[in-house]
Amino acid sequence: MAAEPLTSPKIVGKARPRVDGPLKVTGRAMYSSDHHFPGMLYAVPVSATIANGKIEKIDTATAEKMPGVRAIYHQGNIGKLFRVSVSFGDLSMIDETRPPFEDDVIRYYGQYVALAVADTFEQAGAAADAVKVTYRREEPNVERELGVERLAGVRKKGGSKPEHLESPKVQSERGDPEPAFEKAAVTLDATYLLPAETHNPIELHATVAVWDGTGFTLYDTTQAVVNARNVLAQMLGVPKENMRVISKFLGSGFGGKLWPWTHCALAAAAARQLNLPVKLVINRRSMFQCVGHRPLIQQRVRLSATQEGKLTSLRHEYVNHTSMLDDYEESCGEGTPHMYSVPNLRVTSALARRNVGTPTSMRGPGAVPGLYATESAMNELADLLKMDPVQLRLANEPEIDEGTKLPFSSRHLRECLTTGAEKFGWARRTPAVGSMKQDGLTLGWGMASCTWIAKRFGCTARVELRDDGTAAVSTATQDIGTGTYTVLAQITAEKLQIPVEKIEVILGDSNLPEGPVSGGSMATASVIPAVMAAAGKAAESLLGVAAKAPGSPFAGSKPDGLAFQDGKVQAKGGGEGVPFGEILKKAKMRGVSGQGSSDGNFLDPKPQFSSHSFGAHFVEVTWQPETVRLRINRVLTVIDAGRIVNPLAGRNQIEGAVVMGVGMTLFEQTQYEHGTGAPINSNLADYIMAVNADVPKLDVIFLDYPDLHLNEFGARGIGEIGLAGISAAITSAIHHATGFRARKLPVTIEDLLGAPAQA
Ligand code: MOS
Repeated sequence: MAAEPLTSPKIVGKARPRVDGPLKVTGRAMYSSDHHFPGMLYAVPVSATIANGKIEKIDTATAEKMPGVRAIYHQGNIGKLFRVSVSFGDLSMIDETRPPFEDDVIRYYGQYVALAVADTFEQAGAAADAVKVTYRREEPNVERELGVERLAGVRKKGGSKPEHLESPKVQSERGDPEPAFEKAAVTLDATYLLPAETHNPIELHATVAVWDGTGFTLYDTTQAVVNARNVLAQMLGVPKENMRVISKFLGSGFGGKLWPWTHCALAAAAARQLNLPVKLVINRRSMFQCVGHRPLIQQRVRLSATQEGKLTSLRHEYVNHTSMLDDYEESCGEGTPHMYSVPNLRVTSALARRNVGTPTSMRGPGAVPGLYATESAMNELADLLKMDPVQLRLANEPEIDEGTKLPFSSRHLRECLTTGAEKFGWARRTPAVGSMKQDGLTLGWGMASCTWIAKRFGCTARVELRDDGTAAVSTATQDIGTGTYTVLAQITAEKLQIPVEKIEVILGDSNLPEGPVSGGSMATASVIPAVMAAAGKAAESLLGVAAKAPGSPFAGSKPDGLAFQDGKVQAKGGGEGVPFGEILKKAKMRGVSGQGSSDGNFLDPKPQFSSHSFGAHFVEVTWQPETVRLRINRVLTVIDAGRIVNPLAGRNQIEGAVVMGVGMTLFEQTQYEHGTGAPINSNLADYIMAVNADVPKLDVIFLDYPDLHLNEFGARGIGEIGLAGISAAITSAIHHATGFRARKLPVTIEDLLGAPAQA
């Protein structure tokens, strides 16, 4: 059922600077590692220097005698930690989380084997260095070849089981792709390789653990305070009432902070054993080893089409590496079944186990790597057909989601494509490689579409109206840096019709009513219905007070004869409105509050609509073959993500994602060394990311069609979609300029040295 639409919004939909901006730029925002306590100790982990094998001996004798050292923990003395069965709400993404130091097996390079705790950070670091660990080493498996071609025989019924791959699955199937491919006029069979990528938020993972004799308070940098509380309470063996997780500000996370990692439990265990607060901030090298990464992924895409460019079959097969510990699946095919109209389709996946840390969600998990492959294949097919890539997409626009047979709740991809083409000047593109010149440079123009799922998590929120005329909204979600504080202030202000400046937003504390993870681009859509309900309840309580309290100007009225409008109470028949703060003052009350909840629809077994956001990227590169110099010059992105609550924060999300896409396409890759199995470029000098000098001219256009099936405001999410499809758009622009066809990322200078269009 569609939510009641918001008519003529005054605050939602307006560009507003961040309400938490002043706190951040003046340094008053407290990030996790900013928290200090009297007597606080510092913990530094000891990391394994092999990627496969067993611990034979841990010698802590020297380390224990060093100055300031309080304890060296390891498997023998860490105390009891428990395995966890994780679920938050109806969503269970990690089946099993093992505690640190559970056994003596080393499964990946950098795995924590001990923890040094001392009075200062330097003393703890020196002690960690002095712990001597001897290993029985075995050859690690960090093989890059994942064997995606072995998925070819996997079927829903009667298929074969691929060797050396785990959990083979048919994700989606319709029609019969093999015969359609065999008899098609034009076919493409291409395999695409994406390297492992590491999340590199500025803020390192950090936990400050405080034990009070019965319970914990953890200042933890997390994208999900509620889930962190639930997981860590189980792991530490305390009731969840005795675990409080606080995360007021984050220096981003990109998905790496969605789930707690082993260092969180180590900090808490040490604080409890020593009965003193313990701070553990992991170093940049550990960021590459122990806290997730986007896995290495191999994808094979087979397309067939008629001479006119109508798709007749699509097969998308993908394998991602995962760790020895977890069955992390990168759902690259999530967007494939609904993206285009095609009668015959199969999407198949499997895992390949390697000696690497456990992979995890990274901005746009699934769709981002998936669309690199499928949108690249569409661009290659367009070239084979000698057809414009925008036209190829328009020719295959579906009427419904052909994967689920559901109608789309709102889909405007066609308009994204046509608007983008028009604003970019796409009609001037000449298709031949190297054929466009400007100011002595070769130009390359490329494009791609994108999509991202739109759902809601469950949420409970509280709204309080106060006697000073302000209101507070609170829920246990958090602001990863995307603008959740600001968006919540706008939503609440819109509902109460009072200025944004009068709203206090309280987030980042698991003791608040349970709110959503900052993940899946779903936080905004999830909080709206709960906040609307909570504000409505608060207003209702206020009317009750206005009708009853002896000092109230409306005393003696019936509550249902009163209305809350524009922050004021007034009689329904008309007359002067009285601001809610005045009513509360007259009633001698500090405030009234209301709580509201909404269910999520994330795992709705019977959805009525297919809900996704859509978009299109148009990219211009400049190319100087004489010096092999490639620049991404401008990117224009059109996004259809429902109503945009704050276009300023929204634009910032898309721009940031496009810049991340520049890094994904040209620079980022985590390199595992054969022999040691170590991610060897585990620092910000050797792991190259896009910097300011790499940023192109950025244009973002929002179509702004409210999707009222999702919530009252029609807002979907915008955190991730900007990274989807961008790599395919950039690599198609590179091909157009240089003739080099990138089927593996990143595209390096060495790749371009061999580019065909050298003149
Ligand atoms: Mo995002 S990868 O859901 O933080």
